[in-house]
Amino acid sequence: MIEQISAARAEAENRIARTIDLADLKSLDQEILGKKGTLGALKSGMAQLTSIEEKKLVGQALNEAFVAVRSALDERLHQLATGELDERIQREALDLSESFSSPVRGRAHIVTQAWQRLEDVFIGMGFQIAEGPEVETDWHNFEALNMPPSHPARSMHDTFYVDHGQPGSTVLRTHTSPVQIRVMHSTKPPIYQVMPGRVFRNETTDSTHLAVFHQIEGLVIDKGITLADLAGTIDAFTKAFFGSEFGSRLRPSYFPFTEPSAEFDIRTPDGSWLELGGCGMVHPNVLLAGGIDPEEWSGFAFGFGIDRMAKERHGVSDVREMYTNDIRFIEQF
Ligand code: FA5
Repeated sequence: MIEQISAARAEAENRIARTIDLADLKSLDQEILGKKGTLGALKSGMAQLTSIEEKKLVGQALNEAFVAVRSALDERLHQLATGELDERIQREALDLSESFSSPVRGRAHIVTQAWQRLEDVFIGMGFQIAEGPEVETDWHNFEALNMPPSHPARSMHDTFYVDHGQPGSTVLRTHTSPVQIRVMHSTKPPIYQVMPGRVFRNETTDSTHLAVFHQIEGLVIDKGITLADLAGTIDAFTKAFFGSEFGSRLRPSYFPFTEPSAEFDIRTPDGSWLELGGCGMVHPNVLLAGGIDPEEWSGFAFGFGIDRMAKERHGVSDVREMYTNDIRFIEQF
């Protein structure tokens, strides 16, 4: 029996060395060490031995054979696993030195370009940049901006509600104005900040309206700020952004969070007027909601649509074109 054991062990070691993959090795494990395997079966045969001395010798030989075969299996497993990994790395390697005959250069989307230019111009005018969350509380988006639940101005903002917290308590922000409140809470006046970002309205889209678009908000809070400062800032911005041949005007309007309120238009070199956004003196109730004393501080705010600015600047006829991701369109800017 000892000879049988050493023959089975030699054969097993031989077969293990010749396995070519992990699946092969796995089935061999059973074929050798399993109950009915070449070595496993010899173990069961020990029961037939009668002499204790013989049992001892055979048991020892079997034990050594099992240990040797197990270690040969483990060693081969390691070899095959690292070999397979190396082979996979080879197969999946990217050739980073590969060169294309005509390299394709990416570019920023026109709305991103407008956004970045707006930030540059406002930073040049002494403003800082702030951002706020796109998923906003109803309180920041409406109530703190002087729009209680019953306020008719809310119906102008067709709102997407988020299923979170109390029903109706969480919205996708409909404008960047809630960031005014967040800035007032985080910064002590004087405040000179602009807040660009994405906003959402449940609107039917057309050539000038999107359901997801971008605005930039401006907020100035300081001592003795007046409407003249607002008009001067808007005019300085218009000239810096569009060019000195452009002008601006304020037209009376209404927003619950500013008093008085205005729309601001820009005058293009051909003399036509273009509406850009809304603005006004920050309403005392809004200052109070932001934790600022309206007896001590005053300020102005403005907000306008970045997509519409990009559309006008580049003469795009339909704002929806900017989001079709048609490379022939995007490549032009
Ligand atoms: C507002 O959103 C106010 N929060 C602006 C404001 C800020 C007023 C601070 C006073 C003080 P309005 O809904 O008019 O206002 O939107 C402002 C600008 O966003 C518009 O002039 C327009 O340029 C852009 N806009 C509005 N709706 C859309 C839309 N559906 N698609 C693309 N641009 C839009």
